[in-house]
Amino acid sequence: MKKSIALVLVLIVIFCLVISTMLFAANLTDISGTKYETAVNYLVDKGIVNGYPDNTFRPNGEITRAEATKMVITAADKLSGDPSGEIITFSDVASGHWALATINAATSLGIVNGYEDGTFNPDGKVTYAEATAMVIRAMGYDEDVKQREETWPDNYISYARTLNLYSSISTFDANQQATRGDIAILIYNMVTYINNGYVPYTPTEDENISGEVIVPQEQSSEEEEELEEGPLGYNKVLVVYFSHIDNTDKLAEKIHDEVGGDIVEIKTTDDYVYPTDEEELKIQILEEQEYEMRPAIATQIEDIGKYDIVFIGYPVWEGRAPMAIYSFMQDFSVQAEHVLPFYTFSGDNDRSSETDLKEFYDYTNFYDGLAIENDKVDSSATKTQIEKWIDTIKLDEE
Ligand SMILES: Cc1cc2nc3c(=O)[nH]c(=O)nc-3n(C[C@H](O)[C@H](O)[C@H](O)COP(=O)(O)O)c2cc1C
Repeated sequence: MKKSIALVLVLIVIFCLVISTMLFAANLTDISGTKYETAVNYLVDKGIVNGYPDNTFRPNGEITRAEATKMVITAADKLSGDPSGEIITFSDVASGHWALATINAATSLGIVNGYEDGTFNPDGKVTYAEATAMVIRAMGYDEDVKQREETWPDNYISYARTLNLYSSISTFDANQQATRGDIAILIYNMVTYINNGYVPYTPTEDENISGEVIVPQEQSSEEEEELEEGPLGYNKVLVVYFSHIDNTDKLAEKIHDEVGGDIVEIKTTDDYVYPTDEEELKIQILEEQEYEMRPAIATQIEDIGKYDIVFIGYPVWEGRAPMAIYSFMQDFSVQAEHVLPFYTFSGDNDRSSETDLKEFYDYTNFYDGLAIENDKVDSSATKTQIEKWIDTIKLDEE
C-alpha cells in the first residue's frame, strides 16, 4: 500500500514538472508570435535554454561566450566531452566559474579554442562569427571549413550559409555581438539539420568535389533489381523536379510518361516556405542567390545511387535554378551516369540556369537540357520536343 502511494506521489511530481515546463515554454510573453517562437520554445522544452523568472526571453538581449558554449554543446548532446581530447586551461576561467566544466568539455571536443593569449573571455559577449564557429565545429564540419579559400570569419560564415543555418536570422555583421534570439535560432537550425540525419560526405579520390556535399545518413547499399526495358534501355530512371506553381510539375509528368521509372517532387521543409506573392518571392530568391543558400528539403529518396539516369526539372528563377535544386544536388550527391536538366521559363531563355548548374556540379555527366516556355507546356508540340530530346540521348552503353 505504502509503495503504491509513493508511486502515485512520484507520478504526480513528474506530471507537475512536465506541465510546468510546458507552461513555461509556452508562456514566454515576449516571443509569442515572433520569428523566435518556434526555436525558443523548442530549446526551452529540451532544457537547452531558459526564460527569465518574469516569463520573458529577451530575444534582443546579449549572450556571453560561456552561455553560448553551454547552449551549443547541450544542443549537440556533447556535454560530457571526449575524455581523450585535450582540456585547455584558460587563465581567465577561475576554478569557481559556473561554466568551467562546460568550457572544459567544449575545448576537449574542439568546439571552442579560446584566444592566442591563453584567455577565453567567458563573460564577454559572443559574436555571430564565434557562435557560428562553435556550431560548425559541434556539427563536425571544421575540417571542411579549413579547406576553404576564405579566411576567418568568412570561411565559417559562408559555410554556415550553405547549410542554411541562418534561416530566419536577419542580416548581421560577423564581428557584431549576437542577440539571444538569433543564437537560439542558429542552434535550432543546427538541431533541425542534425535531426534530418545529414552527415558530412566524404568524396572518393576520383570525385573532383569539395567537402561540402552531404548525403542522407540512411543511404544504403543497393541490390540489383530486375529491370524492364524502357525507351532508354535497361536503365534505372528517376524524374525529379521542383515546381512552385505547376508548369514544371506538368512538364515532369509528360517526361515521365515518355521515359518511365520513378518520379519524385522536391519539396522544402515546412519551415522553409516560398511565398505565393510574386514580389515577396522575388526578394527571397535574390537573397537565396546572393548568399548561395541551400534550403532544407523534406524529400526523401531511398538509395539514389541505384539510378543511371536522373532527369532534374525546375522553373527558371531570376536566371538560375531555385536553390532547392542545389540543395537536392548536395543532399543526394547525384552521381548518376547521366543527368538531364529540364526547365520551364518565361521570357528569354539564355540557358544560363543549366550552365550554372553544370559548373557547380561538374563531376556529373550533364546533357543539354530541355527548355519549355511556361505557356507552351500543354501544347502538343511539347510532346514532340520531348521525344526528340530523348532521342538525342546517346548512352555510353549503346
Ligand atoms: C520570381 C520569379 C522569377 C522568375 N524569373 C525568371 C527568369 O529569370 N527567367 C525566365 O525565363 N523566367 C522566369 N520566371 C518565370 C518562371 O520560370 C515560369 O513561370 C515557370 O514556368 C514557373 O514554373 P512552376 O509553375 O513550375 O513554378 C520567374 C518567375 C517568378 C515567379
